[in-house]
Amino acid sequence: MKTIPLIDLKKQYYLLKEEIDGAISKTLENSAFIKVKEIDDFEKNFSEYCGKDFCAAVDNGTAALYIALKCMGIKEGDEVIIPVNTFIATAEAVRMSGAIPIMVDVNNLHLINPEHIEKKITSKTKAIIPVHLYGNVCDMDSIIKIAQKHNLLIVEDCAQAHGSKLHEKKVPISNIGCFSFFPGKSLGAYGDAGGIVSNDEEFIKKCKKFSDHGRLDKYVHDEEGFNFRMDGLQAAILNVKLKHLNNALKRKRDIAEIYNKNLQDVVEIPLVLEGVFHTYHLFVIMTQPEKRDELKEFLENNGIKTGVHYPLSLHLQPALKYLGYNEGEFPDSERISKRILSLPMYPELSNEEVVFITDKIKEFFKESH
Ligand SMILES: Cc1ncc(COP(=O)(O)O)c(C=O)c1O
Repeated sequence: MKTIPLIDLKKQYYLLKEEIDGAISKTLENSAFIKVKEIDDFEKNFSEYCGKDFCAAVDNGTAALYIALKCMGIKEGDEVIIPVNTFIATAEAVRMSGAIPIMVDVNNLHLINPEHIEKKITSKTKAIIPVHLYGNVCDMDSIIKIAQKHNLLIVEDCAQAHGSKLHEKKVPISNIGCFSFFPGKSLGAYGDAGGIVSNDEEFIKKCKKFSDHGRLDKYVHDEEGFNFRMDGLQAAILNVKLKHLNNALKRKRDIAEIYNKNLQDVVEIPLVLEGVFHTYHLFVIMTQPEKRDELKEFLENNGIKTGVHYPLSLHLQPALKYLGYNEGEFPDSERISKRILSLPMYPELSNEEVVFITDKIKEFFKESH
């Protein structure tokens, strides 16, 4: 039986093989891997792509969030607002900075609900991290208004939203955005990598310095830092892949259109705010809670792999139990976590495969009713 994975990185590699192999060989031949031209090129190329002036290339998306918070001055005793439906990295980065993550429930976009943010603001609140989950974009107009009113910083978690836009502007919509280039992301390296973009030159300089041992000079360190550098091989690969990103996003949006058209009367399809350009890092449908796992198994038995992003809201993660949240405290996130299902989504999926998937979903609901 033919199988359709959730994402197929091998297909993508073979399509770009010549260019990727060329970039890797060139780096190997130069045998210079750290703080090399490939990094400078990537920082320039990616900041330009995002419509920002500067970028700090770092070693993963979790570190990008931590570095940004640290260099924004977030410290022990502070509180940082995050959505309860996100990958745990968002919370981990806040904890690494010493601050406490304060969780907020989600709206029908599965993204942080601005209506619930103000209730969570205290005298200790210093920042908000909106997470543009699945390639969708948060209600940034409302979030920016709240942040301005309460004098809060914003750092956008754009790990799943390369190229996503609101009113024609790419994320980050405010001034600081953190990206992951984990292999499965819309722009993925061949290993771990991450980046921070901003128009604030001093801030990005600070992030780079902190990520490179707080160096002033090779052996003079005027601040404490750490090693969070991206390596040159990853930058060389990302420089190649970035050239193909817009085409890949266009193809994902075409696939989403077929999914939406074929499934709109069968399951709940993703919602977007007016003015949002969704890039579908993940295509997430919703079923009745009692049908989700059955549908997942039915698709698996038909060779179609699916995922759940995320089965456990952050407040229910055992590792974060000490924060003192209880089951039932975030009803919207808890409800969607039992209903969501991520369908295969990658640019190399053929229209026939997408139709096969939607036909199978229709067949499931016909049979089970
Ligand atoms: C929403 C979100 N934030 C942060 C991260 C962390 O990125 P990385 O895996 O590169 O550390 C991820 C990646 O999985 C993510 O999906």
